[in-house]
Amino acid sequence: MQTKQRDSFGSRFGVIAAAAGSAIGLGNIWRFPYVLGENGGGIFLLIYLILVTMVGIPVMLSEFTIGRRAQRNPYGSFRVLAPGKPWCLVGLVGILAAFMILAFYTVVAGWTLEYLYQAINNGFSGKSPETIKNMFDVFRSSTFRPILWFLIFMFMTAWIVVSGIRKGIEKYTKVLMPFLFILILVLDIRAITLPGAGEGLRFLFKADFSKISTETILEALGQGFFSLSIGMGTLITYGSYINKKEKLGNAALNVTIADTLIAVLAGIAIFPAVFAFGIEPGAGTGLVFKTLPLIFLEIPGGYFFSILFFLLLSIAALTSTISVLEVIVAFFSEELNISRKTATILAVLTVGILGVMVAGSWGWFSRFHVFKQNFFGIFDFTTANILLPVGGFFIVIFVGWFMGTQNVKDELSNGGDIRASYLPVFVFLVRYVAPLAIALVFMNGLGWI
Ligand code: TRP
Repeated sequence: MQTKQRDSFGSRFGVIAAAAGSAIGLGNIWRFPYVLGENGGGIFLLIYLILVTMVGIPVMLSEFTIGRRAQRNPYGSFRVLAPGKPWCLVGLVGILAAFMILAFYTVVAGWTLEYLYQAINNGFSGKSPETIKNMFDVFRSSTFRPILWFLIFMFMTAWIVVSGIRKGIEKYTKVLMPFLFILILVLDIRAITLPGAGEGLRFLFKADFSKISTETILEALGQGFFSLSIGMGTLITYGSYINKKEKLGNAALNVTIADTLIAVLAGIAIFPAVFAFGIEPGAGTGLVFKTLPLIFLEIPGGYFFSILFFLLLSIAALTSTISVLEVIVAFFSEELNISRKTATILAVLTVGILGVMVAGSWGWFSRFHVFKQNFFGIFDFTTANILLPVGGFFIVIFVGWFMGTQNVKDELSNGGDIRASYLPVFVFLVRYVAPLAIALVFMNGLGWI
């Protein structure tokens, strides 16, 4: 019965686009540049690329393998594949992470709506760079607006998830993501022709080894997990909708390449402007929102492009929030045996409460701090840098050591129909390289070694 319920919701062919839609989002365009800016620039990029290859791809492929094998939500998947064992806890931690990620991610998605609104109302034109930079802080510390936009975005996400993804979002994503790509290229061209662009590009691409620190490496790992949507079961869930004829290895590779490319292109669009306009690269979560409007002012047709850009960014965020909400909804509906609708309502109510606290991190709840972090910072840091890597660690350990090599082989070769010649490499990566890398980075980041 469960399988039937899932089938009627998931379209199998659009899933590759959906997986890329999940991966590509605010993580690439908003989070990547700001985290890179705070962590030494080029050296961060280098470490990031190494970790994505050594850890990111193996975890992603492991998630697809688990999901397609088990045909369930993350928690249910582990229960199917390892009945009576504590592995389902990994799924549960993933569900917990989904709540937290959705709460703060949707808040940032709400910011993109505010910026879309400003773009439409010509809110940037005629303003000095100083004013534009301030706009962000003023907006974010206001009482109602960030919460309002968060709620609107939450309802949009819920509305799509409850009415099914098949006919809507997957189709649009396939058309709109290339659009986003082209737009970023346009911004890139403008950015690299700004006076003083060289300094920004140097910051992004030149690895200064003296800036390497344990925290940089942990942040790069966290960013990799976050950007690829791995470590909490999003891609287990999507994997369970992938047709048995699809090549999982290809899917994982393509999604990873596309995701990484978009992140680098976002960096190329942003850092030249950061330096050209004297913005601090370590300016944190507001970096993109303070820089991009400045570039738009410098482009012919900037009014038009700014609307298009923030619209596409909102859509990219939406295809990601949907994938996170889908994890919670699949979990609730399959495990509690309730309807999709009830499951969605339940999810929205819980995430809604968390999200309002996060949205008010600079307003109503600005006095609340733990370790100098507000709600937003706590959610962001705990999920990306702790919950996702821990989840990813157990996911690769499970596939490498407990799922059975024959099962893995069978799933990756589609029951022997295709040759998965990369299999020995994959097994080596999931057994040794990825778990060891995660463990080392993690213990190092926490100061244990
Ligand atoms: N990867 C998305 C982005 O970069 C965000 C996201 C979607 C995500 N699903 C996730 C992050 C699961 C972590 C885990 O915007």
